[in-house]
Amino acid sequence: MSYRINRNCQNPGHEEKYMAKKIRTVFYCTSCGHESAKWLGQCPACREWNTMVEAPAPAAKTAGASVGAMSMSHPGARRKPVPLSDVEETGEERFSTGFAELDRVLGGGVVAGSMILLGGDPGIGKSTILLQAAGNMAAAGLDILYISGEESLRQIKMRGRRIGEISDRLRFLCETDLDAIAQILQEEKPKLAIIDSIQTMYCAQVQASPGSIAQIREATGILLRIAKESGITFFLVGHVTKEGSVAGPRVLEHMVDAVLYFEGDRYASYRILRSVKNRFGSTNEIGIFEMRGDGLAEVPNPSEFLLSGRPLNTGGSVVTCSMEGTRPLLLEVQALVCRTGYGYPKRQSTGTDFNRVSLLMAVIEKRLGIPMSQFDAYINLAGGIRQTEPALDLGIVLAILSSFKNTPVDDRMVVFGEVGLSGEVRAVSQVQMRVQEASKMGFTSCVLPRSSMRRLEAPEGMKLIPVGTLAELGNLL
Ligand code: TYD
Ligand code: MG
Repeated sequence: MSYRINRNCQNPGHEEKYMAKKIRTVFYCTSCGHESAKWLGQCPACREWNTMVEAPAPAAKTAGASVGAMSMSHPGARRKPVPLSDVEETGEERFSTGFAELDRVLGGGVVAGSMILLGGDPGIGKSTILLQAAGNMAAAGLDILYISGEESLRQIKMRGRRIGEISDRLRFLCETDLDAIAQILQEEKPKLAIIDSIQTMYCAQVQASPGSIAQIREATGILLRIAKESGITFFLVGHVTKEGSVAGPRVLEHMVDAVLYFEGDRYASYRILRSVKNRFGSTNEIGIFEMRGDGLAEVPNPSEFLLSGRPLNTGGSVVTCSMEGTRPLLLEVQALVCRTGYGYPKRQSTGTDFNRVSLLMAVIEKRLGIPMSQFDAYINLAGGIRQTEPALDLGIVLAILSSFKNTPVDDRMVVFGEVGLSGEVRAVSQVQMRVQEASKMGFTSCVLPRSSMRRLEAPEGMKLIPVGTLAELGNLL
């Protein structure tokens, strides 16, 4: 859905409609949520261009209507500043979702009373993963309420049947009116509530259609207040726009405690859960799932999964190792280099940074004297995974060289390292873990930066091949 409203108001009914009802409108920045009385080409807060959209102003704020007011519920009672040493420490209560992959992405389970936003393209499996997680938590004895504004109870039941037995502690509600939801939440006091999706929720006080910026802001604000007051944990489902942000203003991302994205190729079965914000944990963990006929299943060994079906003894295929948070991932880099048919060589990269690939090709041209500018090049990280870590550089370069020379590399070899502009191979972090993972997966040799060799213990049966420059790498072929 697009929120861009024509600022010239060429729609003749538009002004009358708002005039008649005397609705004040304001402009919000879709990038940072900055509010302004008039339209601006550039947001003064985040400096983004063309992000201001018009929306009806929120109803006059009553006490506690805004999130900020939450902490000031007694306007008369003034709070005093305190040193941290006076603050009582209560260990945060966490509970498991029954999915180790999801727990890890959340930083070790769900923090009670927190609000987690789960974004992703339609059909990627957001409702499925939350239904399964809710089922697991209900089976563990927690009271869960699943509120759907998108599907009927019958549709949910159909999905539930694929997943299997669901405990009666998990209950469902089809409702989009936030006032009703707030009341039910206060009566029922579930341990955890799932709102599927925040875009369908509707708050009667706000004169705007569901899914609009004003509605999403208000709805999230109300739920956030309930979360903080009653300690109910919330999972919000949010749809993602083409630009990749959760539909509605970025402000939604600022309000919640954690933002997870569920991504993957719709036509492939694996799904990657990534955290882009987490107040209670690290943001560079990923969880890998596989969509099956009976719901989502965890993939405990992603390297094996990502390398399955790898072509052996083919030029242009190289296995590299990247770190995702604390986990090493073995990936296959594929390159296809062929003479260009046009004056202008074509370059394409899937799964990795296009500019980085162009840069590496320029380094190859300059430092190895290979006329890359006469060749088209296509780079792909197999398995639909996205990675931009510089440690992939060496693998990308070797894949390009291997395809260019049409010479396969040893398929029991892993290659990683960062490449600098003068063709030097630079050290990367967590070398020991990467080498260990390669060894665990049955690889027998590893090409790595010479400067990373210090304090490195080679696992048994693993041959380490240090390289210092691209020229040395070229000699490997
Ligand atoms: P869904 O969770 O409805 O997606 P979202 O809430 O993100 O829009 O997932 C829908 C897709 O998942 C749909 O294309 C069917 C597929 N699916 C399976 O392949 N297996 C299953 O067991 C389930 C429940 C869904
Ligand atoms: Mg859904």
